[in-house]
Amino acid sequence: MTTTALSALQVMQDAPVIPVIVLTDVVQAVPMARALLAGGIRMLEVTLRTPQALACIEAIARTLPEAVIGAGTVRSRADAQAAARAGARFAVSPGYTPALGQACRDAGLALLPGVATGSEIMQAQEDGFTELKFFPAMQAGGPAMLKAWSGPFFDVKFCPTGGVTLQNASELLALPNVVCVGGSWLVPADALAGGDWPRITRLAADARVLARA
Ligand code: 3PG
Repeated sequence: MTTTALSALQVMQDAPVIPVIVLTDVVQAVPMARALLAGGIRMLEVTLRTPQALACIEAIARTLPEAVIGAGTVRSRADAQAAARAGARFAVSPGYTPALGQACRDAGLALLPGVATGSEIMQAQEDGFTELKFFPAMQAGGPAMLKAWSGPFFDVKFCPTGGVTLQNASELLALPNVVCVGGSWLVPADALAGGDWPRITRLAADARVLARA
């Protein structure tokens, strides 16, 4: 993929699952990303939850041009700027504020804003965001909530994230207002710690073939 601007819809459409990744060691970043790529997943969300996250984003962006690296847990203008500087192409946030929406636009990052209520959806829509992350999806109502939203918010598409597993992903992906899901199960902490890259490739390959509506 070239470095032209991405849209949130492109981020969501690329694969049925966006892996939510927590990295604590820069040495793990590139082999982990290679393992996901080998399984057919190239949109990668590395969360800004560890001191090493930005260095990991930078290492992946520099080494693997075939990966499309995004930053997760983006909560502030400073997060958005740092993520873009490190090479992130998209941002994912656990909630939404208009200031964050503007900061991501200014930084050239596609944003998947996190929402969990109708008011948050309306605020994001008012600011021009129509592809949203439903977070925390399973804790906040899961498929039933998405079905309820499909009436009033017929023009919004969602990436449910939070409590999603290989087992419950299919039910979510079958909903017409769901484009993809997000989940941390593709990159388990013990696989990372043990350098079990084939396991991560298998988990990615299993996620890659999940059916969508
Ligand atoms: C997160 O922010 O940690 C993501 O929503 C991932 O949640 P999960 O670990 O339940 O997949």
